[in-house]
Amino acid sequence: MNEITKSTDTYFVGHPKGLVTLFLTEMWERMSYYGMRGLLVLFMTREIVDGGMNMSAPEAMAIYGIYGASVYFLCVPGGWVADKLFGAQRTVLYGAIIITLGHYVLAIPYDKTFFLGLVLVSIGTGLLKPNISTIVGELYKPGDLRIDSGYTIFYMSINIGSMLGFLVCGYLGEKVGWHWGFGAAGVGMTFGVLQYIFTRKDLGNAGKESKLSENEDQTRYLTIFKWTSAVLGLIVITGFFGFWTIEPALLNQLLVNLIFIVALAYFVYLFFFAGLNQTEKNNIKMLLLLFFGSVLFWAGFDQGGSSLNLFAKDYTDLFIFGWEMPATFLQVANPLMVVIFAPFFASFWIYLGKRNLDPDTPQKFALGCFLMAIGFFVIIFGVEAALENEKAGVRFLLITYLFHTLGELCLSPVGLSATAKYSPSRYRGQMMGIWFLSSSLAAGLAGLLASKSLESGLPSMPGLFNQIIIALVVVGILLLVANKFVKATPLDNEK
Ligand code: PHE
Repeated sequence: MNEITKSTDTYFVGHPKGLVTLFLTEMWERMSYYGMRGLLVLFMTREIVDGGMNMSAPEAMAIYGIYGASVYFLCVPGGWVADKLFGAQRTVLYGAIIITLGHYVLAIPYDKTFFLGLVLVSIGTGLLKPNISTIVGELYKPGDLRIDSGYTIFYMSINIGSMLGFLVCGYLGEKVGWHWGFGAAGVGMTFGVLQYIFTRKDLGNAGKESKLSENEDQTRYLTIFKWTSAVLGLIVITGFFGFWTIEPALLNQLLVNLIFIVALAYFVYLFFFAGLNQTEKNNIKMLLLLFFGSVLFWAGFDQGGSSLNLFAKDYTDLFIFGWEMPATFLQVANPLMVVIFAPFFASFWIYLGKRNLDPDTPQKFALGCFLMAIGFFVIIFGVEAALENEKAGVRFLLITYLFHTLGELCLSPVGLSATAKYSPSRYRGQMMGIWFLSSSLAAGLAGLLASKSLESGLPSMPGLFNQIIIALVVVGILLLVANKFVKATPLDNEK
């Protein structure tokens, strides 16, 4: 054991006490986020008599896409607000309170407030999610080897929270009433906020201050913040009172274009204008490659809450022992399998590493894409079974989610650490933002794809899944080929 490890706080399974605070806050946040998200498409597509909004599947898919894209897009300004204005600790608190309000607004059974609730949850999540992840890293001193396992424990909280959400909100939403499910998300998040307030002191100085350098002028940033908030507030309020409307499919498309341009412009800036040396430029090439792999992967993955969720609800036989389970219960498969398999994956990479057989990051990404493609291949058989017999067996979705989860474990943790390892240190925070942007673009793209191709219900599903399979295989192969030419070098970021 080295000096650093001995001298620091080891209260929680050998980790600092503050990790408990972050673990529980993230757990409740993900409980509310995924619990609500699991219900979203189902609620929007049910008929009015069933308490739903009676939307067509394409419209619901587009709204789901807009929502997912906005949540992760807002993580970028969310990181900025913490860095420049309030510090991560306070920004997480503001985010948590706004999320809670959002879920309670969604609990009101009134169509107009529905969109307001979604806006609040997106803004709150944008403030909370990136910053809580940063604070985890700051609990440890530079060079503390526990940081990786700290992040692994934190990843567990994400998955435990989402399981809880799918079960509790899913059951209440589907079996009792949609708005009860949304309300339960609000109650869960209330626990999260209270817990955070009471145990925030355990975080110590981690994420306490903003990260301004001496020559930066905070009042200028504050002015930018106020004006942007005022303009956005005005847009939301005028929309709420019906002064403007926009087609969901169009907004979905616009968002995807915008996010794509922002991400690409950022890469172009870094490559040509940021004064990087050749090694750093090589790394940027690699990160761009990973960015595309990540977008495609998560666009496939995000079908889990949308088209696959609809397939579960309408075309899957959900009866077990004579009881029809809520469709959202199937969403538990992913987080449950993450918790079960994650330790095996971690030791498998170490095992390979010791024998010098550890795949390169793009190879792991390619593997993730191929596994995701196999998952979709399986569900096409499920769709065929449903076309023949009205409903498909649960096994199709379970096997699909198994492959999706194996893919996630190849790609997601590796993507995060590659971002940290290969980014030039002065751009590391922003590159983390870019990692979230890939999820954002993916969610938008997922909505767009599903919305464009689900016009005629079940028979149109294989077409959608085939498109996704082809895209995943192409990107997987590109990653493997490009890996021969682009070699990245880990950068020493402790300086
Ligand atoms: N399950 C992960 C989470 O909720 C999915 C994710 C990965 C989200 C990467 C954003 C970015 O945190």
